[in-house]
Amino acid sequence: MNSHHKVALVVGAQGVIGRNLVQYLSTLPDWDVVGLSRRGGDAQGRIRHVAVDLLSAEDCRQQLAGLTHVTHIFYAAYQDRPTWAELVPPNLAMLVNVVNALEPIAPGLRHISLMQGYKVYGAHLGPFKTPARETDAPHMPPEFNVDQQAFLESRQHGKAWTWSAIRPSVVGGFALGNPMNLAMVIAVYASMSKELGIPLRFPGKPGAYDKLLEMTDAGLLAKATVWAATREQCANQAFNINNGDLFRWSEMWPRLARYFELEVAPPLPMSLDVVMADKEPVWAAMQRKHGLEPTPYRDVSSWRFGDFVFSWDYDMFADGSKARRFGFHEYVETEAMFLGLFDDLRRRRIIP
Ligand SMILES: NC(=O)c1ccc[n+]([C@@H]2O[C@H](COP(=O)([O-])OP(=O)(O)OC[C@H]3O[C@@H](n4cnc5c(N)ncnc54)[C@H](OP(=O)(O)O)[C@@H]3O)[C@@H](O)[C@H]2O)c1
Repeated sequence: MNSHHKVALVVGAQGVIGRNLVQYLSTLPDWDVVGLSRRGGDAQGRIRHVAVDLLSAEDCRQQLAGLTHVTHIFYAAYQDRPTWAELVPPNLAMLVNVVNALEPIAPGLRHISLMQGYKVYGAHLGPFKTPARETDAPHMPPEFNVDQQAFLESRQHGKAWTWSAIRPSVVGGFALGNPMNLAMVIAVYASMSKELGIPLRFPGKPGAYDKLLEMTDAGLLAKATVWAATREQCANQAFNINNGDLFRWSEMWPRLARYFELEVAPPLPMSLDVVMADKEPVWAAMQRKHGLEPTPYRDVSSWRFGDFVFSWDYDMFADGSKARRFGFHEYVETEAMFLGLFDDLRRRRIIP
């Protein structure tokens, strides 16, 4: 192994973020990739997968024991819980278990990249200061992203490795069986509206339709994450990463409707978690009628996350200029991102 060769450990390799990270790293000539998740996966070229339960320190020690050549950890695992407080213990434990298992056996470890989000800024709590900046003051805990970063910061003292923290907005990317997947929410909701012969209604809170927000394309996020993990100037720094354009649902929603050849009707606040709960038979009938892949309804149902995103009746954006000042200049047009993701879901025969 020459000194330029790098071995990535992508933790949470089946997630909406992790999958795209694995995919991007596999296109780079100087990386081998090991993906971690409970479900594991088939090896392909320079990618292999290890199935592990990150909540178990013992399982981590056992399953990671052979990964002595890892140079970079990309942490993007996530355990969903119903409250902000309940998110902390499992999400902190998984990161600690990975670092405890790997650090003693991987002498070439150079970097640990932590995937965070705008929760660091209190975006999930209510109207927060926008644009949010990396230098903004912390807010009242509990917040798992903050605890994870504090753990890495203290663990890094006196070590040869460095860390970086990446803060995306809502992420757009392909994944199945994930609790936070906005593109899938819209794609399935729109496809079902079409099937039922009804127009596309924005289901969010009154006030959410005309607020400013932004997204982060999972491919762009992967590039930014690897960039930050491999640049000296980015060591021990946090970066907001977003597409670079703001939008309002009032403008975006009709464009998304047009893609599905749907009329738009005025918004109607409703809980998707509630109104989509009885739609499994509709989904199954659509799969038969259109010859779709037999993806289980639960694997395309991030309805609770849809309700969360569509409840934001306040601006939701962060300043992305720090990453640009440090040298990352890529951007993605958000409308093109959505339409590209819908195209991809059609190609994969997930939606009609
Ligand atoms: N999605 C978004 O829109 C978004 C936006 C901003 C920030 N973020 C942040 O980014 C991070 C990753 O989010 P994500 O949406 O990519 O998560 P995700 O799609 O739910 O993926 C989570 C990954 O972790 C793995 N995992 C979960 N529990 C595990 C366990 N006990 N052992 C091993 N693997 C486990 C899952 O695979 P298995 O199920 O196979 O175990 C999956 O690969 C989170 O901190 C999240 O808050 C996400």
